[in-house]
Amino acid sequence: MDYLPDDLVTVATGEQVRSEVADDLRDMIDAAADDGVTLTMQSGYRSYAYQQQIFGNMLGVYGREYAERLSARPGYSEHQTGLAVDLGGASKPACDFDPCFATTPEGRWIAKHVGEYGFLVRYMKANEDVTGYSPEAWHLRWVGRSLTAQMAELGVSTLEEVFDVDGGPDYR
Ligand code: DAL
Ligand code: ZN
Repeated sequence: MDYLPDDLVTVATGEQVRSEVADDLRDMIDAAADDGVTLTMQSGYRSYAYQQQIFGNMLGVYGREYAERLSARPGYSEHQTGLAVDLGGASKPACDFDPCFATTPEGRWIAKHVGEYGFLVRYMKANEDVTGYSPEAWHLRWVGRSLTAQMAELGVSTLEEVFDVDGGPDYR
């Protein structure tokens, strides 16, 4: 609940990530720019209290069952680790945090290239039953380039399978 990474660094738009994530994130954003694709930093580290606020809003708007598929409970979000980011796209900001992000040039670039920079698209249609969350083409979790390479080799797309743990929302 009180977990606070001790090596957070500030990156684009004032968002924070752990220092080991920052270089790969910068490399990825630069590489996308070289391909003419502008990725925007929407969120990085989130505190327990902030996640509580987000989850509470989701509960109010969507009710428990659907809210649990969209948002992690406070204390369970990857954002609190400082290892996850949500990216948006400059070409169609209306698609940020929306399923249509997957169809934008930025969403497509991410789907193709994230592994090269040590990130995973964490919640996908193909593994929805494993993760428990609705697809989020914008939510990336840093695991490092050696693990993304191993996962690609093994043909495994989720951390639940790599580490043999349960996904949400049955994670309690
Ligand atoms: N939207 C993701 C699941 C989170 O809240 O961490
Ligand atoms: Zn996210």
